[in-house]
Amino acid sequence: MKFFADTAEIDDIKELAATGLLDGVTTNPSLIAKSGRDFMEVTKEICGITDGPVSAEVVALDHETMMKEAEVLRKIADNVCIKVPLTIDGLKTCKALTDDGTMVNVTLCFSANQALLAAKAGATFVSPFVGRHDDNGVNGMDLIRDISQIYDNYAFETEILVASVRHVTHVLESALIGADVMTAPPKVIKALFNHVLTEKGIEGFLKDWESTGQSIT
Ligand code: G3P
Repeated sequence: MKFFADTAEIDDIKELAATGLLDGVTTNPSLIAKSGRDFMEVTKEICGITDGPVSAEVVALDHETMMKEAEVLRKIADNVCIKVPLTIDGLKTCKALTDDGTMVNVTLCFSANQALLAAKAGATFVSPFVGRHDDNGVNGMDLIRDISQIYDNYAFETEILVASVRHVTHVLESALIGADVMTAPPKVIKALFNHVLTEKGIEGFLKDWESTGQSIT
């Protein structure tokens, strides 16, 4: 499963990229606002840190203006992936851009029928929001299971990018279902490395090693 960082914070992206385990980055207008940075500048900087897809979201609501914004965004770097909302105009834009060979991430997906439409529009990625479903008392992972079933049924090439990931269990369940990608805040990705028994094990080994009085280097 590919790991994308869901952030526009450069330091966090650099830190995760240094692990060699980062496969891409997703941003959205809220994350750009939170970064306090210029949209074009920070997107270009992120595209220079990772070779993977970097999702940059249009803010227009009509197809024509979305296409104009996409034209500007895709010139930032070759690994820019245009993010469009799951609306009729968003899917028209998705179809036009993917027909033209541009990567498109269809975002704000909350139903399997919406995901079916995104696949038919040739989306590179579809982003179902599991955390926001959970926030509303609906099990977001059920949506991923349904989309995965439908995409398998018709051998759609669109990749399932699990979004609005809130904790490590979302990552585990996404992997068990076989989702293609998950995007998570840096703190969730960092938490994946942790296990109390790993820490205890290291402690025990180092204590025993110390008793030998030896050194390797
Ligand atoms: O980037 C889209 C999505 O991951 C946002 O998630 O945490 O705002 O629900 P969240």
